[in-house]
Amino acid sequence: MNSIIRVDKLEKSFKDKKALDGITFNVYEGEILCFLGPNGAGKSTTINILTTALDSDGGDIYFNDRKVIRNNREYKSFLGIVPQDLAIYEEISAERNVAFFAALYGLKGNELKTKVDEALKFVGLLDKKRDKVKTFSGGMKRRLNIACAIAHNPKIIIMDEPTVGIDPQSRNHILNSIKELRKQGATIIYTTHYMEEVEEISTRIIIVDNGKLIAEGTKEELKEKLADEKLFTVEIEDGKSFDCQKLYKIEGTKNVELKEGLLKISVLKGIENLDKIIAMLIGNAVKIKNITSEAESLEMVFLKLTGRTLRD
Ligand SMILES: Nc1ncnc2c1ncn2[C@@H]1O[C@H](COP(=O)(O)OP(=O)(O)OP(=O)(O)O)[C@@H](O)[C@H]1O
Ligand SMILES: [Mg+2]
Repeated sequence: MNSIIRVDKLEKSFKDKKALDGITFNVYEGEILCFLGPNGAGKSTTINILTTALDSDGGDIYFNDRKVIRNNREYKSFLGIVPQDLAIYEEISAERNVAFFAALYGLKGNELKTKVDEALKFVGLLDKKRDKVKTFSGGMKRRLNIACAIAHNPKIIIMDEPTVGIDPQSRNHILNSIKELRKQGATIIYTTHYMEEVEEISTRIIIVDNGKLIAEGTKEELKEKLADEKLFTVEIEDGKSFDCQKLYKIEGTKNVELKEGLLKISVLKGIENLDKIIAMLIGNAVKIKNITSEAESLEMVFLKLTGRTLRD
């Protein structure tokens, strides 16, 4: 595999908060690399340094084995950036938004027009190209944000949580577009906290926590880490007064988490003690509404590696 970008020992602090703590990884040509991590893990900070929007305190970025220096135009011309916060102008048309960004990348004249239309068509907004952005739904704005990043046909597309808070239809459109961009030869770096998206589009995954890389691999490789564990999800009522830490007293319990009426308990395979878990819940006056046992999932990998689920 050909490493197109190498991120080497990045460090970044904001006042006394260490956002990045020596994170190191490669981005390989043609992959969809999903960046997974809880709030504040350092995903956006990594991406902002990668795009040179932000300076690091230490460490380096290499593009095709050459060190990237700030404001390197050649490097930037290879990038398409979809930021976490929408970067579009509400008061002008969709078309003029895309044209504005494409022009920044040097497109002009007929080529600019053609590329703007292609990008709008790609995200399903061509028929709305003359409409002002302020009339758009959240999903349409997200799609426009993507069109702005891809009109210049970048080799590397970096997307920071591009599907947060949108309708399922727009989300599907975006996920399919990403797979299509890869087919057309792009390399994609994608941050999200939606496991289903990672399952659907990733060719490789990096899990970050506290500014460090804690695991990397394909979803199959990551799930192998769970070969010895099983996860029960117990839906409960009246669980407010129950101290779920007590469950650690039961042999085989590896991880316990209680959030919004869902108790997630991962246990060692072979020492499942489901009877004891249920007995403890009943003994603590917890009403059980449902119990399911999950197949190995990325959510479980995450829980195992970080000791918590993905979002608070
Ligand atoms: N400009 C800033 N000033 C101060 N602290 C910051 C700044 N940007 C990020 N941080 C802090 O650095 C840490 C990493 O933040 P970052 O935005 O990279 O996380 P993230 O993984 O993108 O999280 P999220 O999923 O919420 O987007 C957090 O603790 C955050 O509060
Ligand atoms: Mg972020």
